[in-house]
Amino acid sequence: MSPEEAEKMTYESIMYGYRHIDTAAVYRNEEAVGVGLKKAMKELNLDREDIFVTTKLWPGGLMKLDRVKDFEGTIKSFEKSLFKLGLDYIDLYLIHSPHAKKKRIEQWQALIDIKEQNNVKYIGVSNWGINHLEELVQNNLPLPDANQIELHPWSQKLELVKYLREKEIDIIAYSSLVPLSTWRHKYGENSKKTSEMQKISDDDNSPFKRLAFKYKVTEAQILLKWALELGYSVLPKSIQTKRMQDNFNMNFSISQDDMNYITTLDRGGSVTWEYGDPLMVE
Ligand SMILES: NC(=O)c1ccc[n+]([C@@H]2O[C@H](COP(=O)([O-])OP(=O)(O)OC[C@H]3O[C@@H](n4cnc5c(N)ncnc54)[C@H](OP(=O)(O)O)[C@@H]3O)[C@@H](O)[C@H]2O)c1
Repeated sequence: MSPEEAEKMTYESIMYGYRHIDTAAVYRNEEAVGVGLKKAMKELNLDREDIFVTTKLWPGGLMKLDRVKDFEGTIKSFEKSLFKLGLDYIDLYLIHSPHAKKKRIEQWQALIDIKEQNNVKYIGVSNWGINHLEELVQNNLPLPDANQIELHPWSQKLELVKYLREKEIDIIAYSSLVPLSTWRHKYGENSKKTSEMQKISDDDNSPFKRLAFKYKVTEAQILLKWALELGYSVLPKSIQTKRMQDNFNMNFSISQDDMNYITTLDRGGSVTWEYGDPLMVE
């Protein structure tokens, strides 16, 4: 979201009932999120504890000239995010991706340090695979509180999910709405796979259209409810007020038979990252 969209939608979504806001240094909208948050909190008379704010360290190392953050760089980056958001603590601070390879451990140690200083409630990672998490185990380091990953019926990552559950690492799903024909259709926000995906979801007989008809909800609601039924947190993004409101209405349940059927729709891999799947980074 642009800063303007982020400020407006943060404000509107909190006013509507959302309480978890997800941003990141690399989204360049933390200041705007902070402004929208404060405005809504003031109007609703909310305490800081009533909301849950996640932001992320950009680790660097993804492209040329993308400087990798060391321990100090990580601390500085965190302080910048805190300042931009205008908060005195962050609820959940994540390492955005595992790309920093040689500095991953150092960055994680910096997050542990930040938590010890009580500047964050929880620390975690995003787009990390089992190999990256096992690296922490080998270094006798505490495991993350959460892993934020691309998860939807076309990308179910069953092995990783099983591992995260065993290790009691909370699962936060992003890009839940990938199977919709309207998912990031605009130039600039789409992924290389968007047009291939759209062909499947445009089909009037698509599984999610049929399920939406059956439950008298939207396809987006089916996709979000699927994730919630499995115990994942979700982060639906919309710059449209009506959609933001619809995405919040989860007042129905999906039968076990239909949940089992959706499990069969897994296509493996991921869709969102333009620069290759972070889960595949060594
Ligand atoms: N950690 C990571 O690496 C990572 C990566 C990607 C995303 N994320 C996080 O996850 C959030 C959501 O992910 P996302 O933006 O990839 O995708 P998403 O929430 O799955 O889908 C957003 C797309 O779907 C459309 N949409 C939203 N609600 C809809 C509805 N009810 N009906 C039809 N279309 C609808 C939106 O268009 P409109 O806006 O026009 O409604 C937008 O194009 C992001 O904002 C970000 O916070 C994290």
